[in-house]
Amino acid sequence: MQDEKIRVLIVDNIADTRESIQKLLLFDKSIEVIGTIGTAKDAIQMATEKQPHVVLMDINMSDMDGIAATEAMRKKVPFVQVIILSVNDDLNIMRRAMMAGARDFLTKPPDVDQLVEAIHRSHDLAKEEINKMGTVGVAGVSPAGDTIYRSAIFGKVIMIYSPKGGTGVTTLATNLAVTLNSTATNVVLVDGSLQFGDVTVFLNEQPRLSIADLAPRADELDPEIINEVLINHAQTGLRILAAVPRPEMADKITGQQFVKILQFLRRLYHFVIIDTSSYLTEPIIAALDEADLIVLLTTQDIPAIRDTKIFLNLVESFNISKEKLLFVLSKSDKRIPITPEKVSEALKNEVKLEILFDDRTVINSVNRGMPFVLDPKPQPIVRNIMDLADTIRSILISETQTEGEIRG
Ligand SMILES: Nc1ncnc2c1ncn2[C@@H]1O[C@H](COP(=O)(O)OP(=O)(O)OP(=O)(O)O)[C@@H](O)[C@H]1O
Ligand SMILES: [Mg+2]
Repeated sequence: MQDEKIRVLIVDNIADTRESIQKLLLFDKSIEVIGTIGTAKDAIQMATEKQPHVVLMDINMSDMDGIAATEAMRKKVPFVQVIILSVNDDLNIMRRAMMAGARDFLTKPPDVDQLVEAIHRSHDLAKEEINKMGTVGVAGVSPAGDTIYRSAIFGKVIMIYSPKGGTGVTTLATNLAVTLNSTATNVVLVDGSLQFGDVTVFLNEQPRLSIADLAPRADELDPEIINEVLINHAQTGLRILAAVPRPEMADKITGQQFVKILQFLRRLYHFVIIDTSSYLTEPIIAALDEADLIVLLTTQDIPAIRDTKIFLNLVESFNISKEKLLFVLSKSDKRIPITPEKVSEALKNEVKLEILFDDRTVINSVNRGMPFVLDPKPQPIVRNIMDLADTIRSILISETQTEGEIRG
């Protein structure tokens, strides 16, 4: 099916806009516009009938808002990838679109290169989803919590780590998990800071069960046990595996048990995100090996940079591929003379992304037990998290495709 065209549906309530977008796409012969439509309701109907790979959706439809339409459409046609178009790049709208399962977000009028690139990227994702649907089914747990039957997922394990404590690992892990969790991709957040885990505090949940209830059964896990132990985050539907209730219980969890739990979770969830402590326990070392991606946090100070260097040597001696590391600068602050470029130089590795220093937003969010990405008035730091989520998606998705090509 190599010469199969990319089937695109254009949804906008202004006829002129529909036409001009259609004209833009004429230049790419691999794209076929299979329909243009003016109301969200008709668009959902048409998507169900014509099964496009990609839908270009205006945010302001007269009968239904584009975000609600996205959500409804993905329920009917699970592989469809929606690109939202909006006149302004409002952070609030972008975030809502992402959580509703939209794949991309472009401002109007779209730049033709950007649009075509976004369509191709979305098409890759749609194909991947279609392939998954064709594979043998396994039992899974739906975001709503009930056991369902659906195609096998080979989810990705993402570990957030910093060799220095207090760097912002839990802040990042919780906000990233909430951002990546959508109708398109389900996420489980594992509190791997086993002794003094505080993920449930950050998310305002009270754990009844924890990883201590899974570890002894690591060899005989099934979706029902997992479902029973995971917490359903009330605000977002994110699933959480809580740390042990008392610190002394953490020692009982072996590296092998921890990895078996991660391996089982990755069959049920698209993304398994691990919050970690800097202290290198047996489970953390085992998870470094199991992870597909390690988000390595550092800050603009000498002790943190030194610890990161020591950790990099350790990575080498553990034979962990450096390719898996994604360097992120936490609490990034322009006032500090050690610039991100200098940090990159010192580490001999490029810092790919920054999370701004914003103590007010972070502390308020933690004290309320509400991730700041959910704040109705998003601050610039929210964009940092969304950029990171985007980067992670593109790294891990292109990886899946290469694996698929090798297997095939
Ligand atoms: N981007 C940020 N800007 C300003 N302050 C931040 C930021 N991220 C985290 N903090 C602050 O840093 C402190 C540590 O944050 P957090 O608990 O997320 O770090 P951690 O790496 O998980 O720490 P631990 O090693 O204790 O697990 C908190 O006081 C938090 O408010
Ligand atoms: Mg922490």
